[in-house]
Amino acid sequence: MNSLHGKNVVITGASKGLGAALADSLSARGATVVLVARHEKALDEVVNALRAKGRKAFGIPADVADKDSTHRISGLAAAMVGRVDVLIHNASTLGPVPLRSLLDTECEDLAAVLETNLVGPFRLTKALVGPMALRKDGTVVHISSDAAVEGYANWGAYGASKAAGDQLHRVLAAELSAAGVQVINVDPGEMDTDMHRDALPEADPKTLKTPARVAESIARMLEDGALVSGSRVAAANWERAS
Ligand SMILES: NC(=O)c1ccc[n+]([C@@H]2O[C@H](COP(=O)([O-])OP(=O)(O)OC[C@H]3O[C@@H](n4cnc5c(N)ncnc54)[C@H](OP(=O)(O)O)[C@@H]3O)[C@@H](O)[C@H]2O)c1
Repeated sequence: MNSLHGKNVVITGASKGLGAALADSLSARGATVVLVARHEKALDEVVNALRAKGRKAFGIPADVADKDSTHRISGLAAAMVGRVDVLIHNASTLGPVPLRSLLDTECEDLAAVLETNLVGPFRLTKALVGPMALRKDGTVVHISSDAAVEGYANWGAYGASKAAGDQLHRVLAAELSAAGVQVINVDPGEMDTDMHRDALPEADPKTLKTPARVAESIARMLEDGALVSGSRVAAANWERAS
């Protein structure tokens, strides 16, 4: 993609953690960012903080798991910025915490995790990717997890949703390769966020990366013209040596 300047980026789950950090890193590079999250007050605070820095930012309070919100999100994003160049599926749920074994996981809880982490993002992709394909230009990023590829005890519902998300986006990449739309799965690595605290409250934050550091790596990844559509990449590969 090379430059993010002038690009319009929709980021789900952007009121805190990695999503808010991505909004900061990408808008600092001249992108206009559309932030989606459920809780309006927290979302407004992030949007207002970006605008106070002179960035172009908009907020859409919405639940990505809610089918009826899909076209509201895509319609509002179009009204706010017009063309969407980059869609980042970052919003995610662990399901009930403390995390539990699969045999102790209710089927309804598994279904709810899949709605937020897989089906909702799929709906939003379907709503936004058509114009990208027509323009032969666009990027879809799925924020994945090492839980998609490792069999960690008690991470079954979340891990299954992330593994399915990886495969969904791998296939999408193959289907959209002729249409010039790039689709990438990104493992951000462990970060000091609310999600990590909810999952592993005993973890030492000093062993975790800040979301800002990971967001900078992902921003550099998006600027890297050598990205291979359909690949699964670690954000750490784009860390600046320091
Ligand atoms: N933290 C880690 O160590 C780690 C490791 C590997 C992968 N990841 C992945 O990295 C991504 C970001 O994680 P994070 O740690 O930054 O999470 P986080 O701090 O918990 O933030 C999650 C964000 O998503 C929003 N969100 C949650 N459910 C939503 C829904 N249904 N609709 C719309 N927005 C929703 C939250 O706001 P609202 O509650 O207001 O909606 C919040 O803005 C996730 O995909 C996660 O799976 C994280």
